[in-house]
Amino acid sequence: MPKARYKEHSVGDHELRPESLMMGYGYDPMLSEGAAKCPIFQTSTFVFPNAEAGKAYFQLAYGLREARPGEESGLIYSRLNNPDLEILEDRLGLWDGAEAGAVFASGMAAISTALMAYLRPGDAIVFSEPLYGGTEHFILSVLPEFGITAVGFPAGRPIADLAADIRARVGTRRVPVVYIETPANPTNAMVDIADLAAFAKTLEANGARPRLMVDNTFLGPLWQHPLRHGADLVIYSATKFIGGHSDLVAGAVLGTDEAMHPVRALRTFMGTMADAWTGWLLMRSLETLKMRMTAMMKNARYCAEFLNDHARVRQVFYLGLIREGDPQYPIYRRQCGGPGSLIAFDVEGGEAGAFRFLNALKLIKLAVSLGGTESLAEHPGSMTHSDVPPEDQLRMGITPGMVRLSVGVEHFEDLIADLGQALEAV
Ligand SMILES: Cc1ncc(COP(=O)(O)O)c(C=O)c1O
Repeated sequence: MPKARYKEHSVGDHELRPESLMMGYGYDPMLSEGAAKCPIFQTSTFVFPNAEAGKAYFQLAYGLREARPGEESGLIYSRLNNPDLEILEDRLGLWDGAEAGAVFASGMAAISTALMAYLRPGDAIVFSEPLYGGTEHFILSVLPEFGITAVGFPAGRPIADLAADIRARVGTRRVPVVYIETPANPTNAMVDIADLAAFAKTLEANGARPRLMVDNTFLGPLWQHPLRHGADLVIYSATKFIGGHSDLVAGAVLGTDEAMHPVRALRTFMGTMADAWTGWLLMRSLETLKMRMTAMMKNARYCAEFLNDHARVRQVFYLGLIREGDPQYPIYRRQCGGPGSLIAFDVEGGEAGAFRFLNALKLIKLAVSLGGTESLAEHPGSMTHSDVPPEDQLRMGITPGMVRLSVGVEHFEDLIADLGQALEAV
């Protein structure tokens, strides 16, 4: 497909920002009857111009030969490729500076496919804790059934203090994957991506090149760019900020062509790709990504300050409240472009207090998930992280009174009024 003209990144010497490119990048209207917007290619299969072309497309798709200069893979079948996914993957890559990407049917499809693409029986995976509950379950309960050893370490502590213990638990096993989530769900504890990239290299001695995978769902793709700090792959639940309206489920993995190759190949054979309609919805969402995430972050700052001053709130965990002198402050300054819009806070009265608060909310909805236009609140201890045993929850900083709040685009004074009246119920 002659797409090159629609993949320009600059006007003369002026480099264009991702938010300016979201409306047209990678799409040639002349290939679609002049439609200004990319249509939904709701088709399972694609017609080849002739048998020779079909053969050439398969040769490239299955890696049977190298592409000739200027040759692009043709469209074959929607489990392998589809214009809505290809254009979306090109656009997603612009935010993170990635060469290649793959969109999935869910964040968990993205995570499980990326992990299975690299791990083999007998290997170990090193990972930060806490992680999103589903990822934690996959690593601790599913991967061990395939002979993979899980070696966790706490987020929020310097890797230099933990390295010897991690090495002892890894033993002589290969470590093809170091997996982190930063900031962590739900505590907002941070992991230093550059430090972890350096540490991952030292594990290479065991016989595999460790790939550093970063779940960037909480801050990305606007406020944090892990590939620039040494990560190999960046992973998203696109259900969250990228989709942004709590009306779809999707995931994404991005990185270099080389690091993405096994992930894309396994996606084809596991069939974990997103469908065209979801791809189209995500492209539409990307047009407003920066506006949405900026508005949510501004609202979150007001809400975090209000909660921080409230007598019934014991502690607030929000990146925007970290001050100089805190060991996490230099990490925040180095790797985050903003504090995002997720707040965890501990109310008085443990689980009963948290439940009274959640049951009293009127504007803010009681629901899991995050990153949508509407504000959502939930209780990690009994909901998203209920799979983590209570003693491990405490070790990870997930207290019985903890509430996780995802701040939306409503008026901040309305949000504060709702938070205030619900805190009265605590
Ligand atoms: C940080 C994080 N990663 C991954 C996931 C899983 O994504 P999905 O629900 O789209 O499968 C979630 C879901 O809540 C999440 O919060």
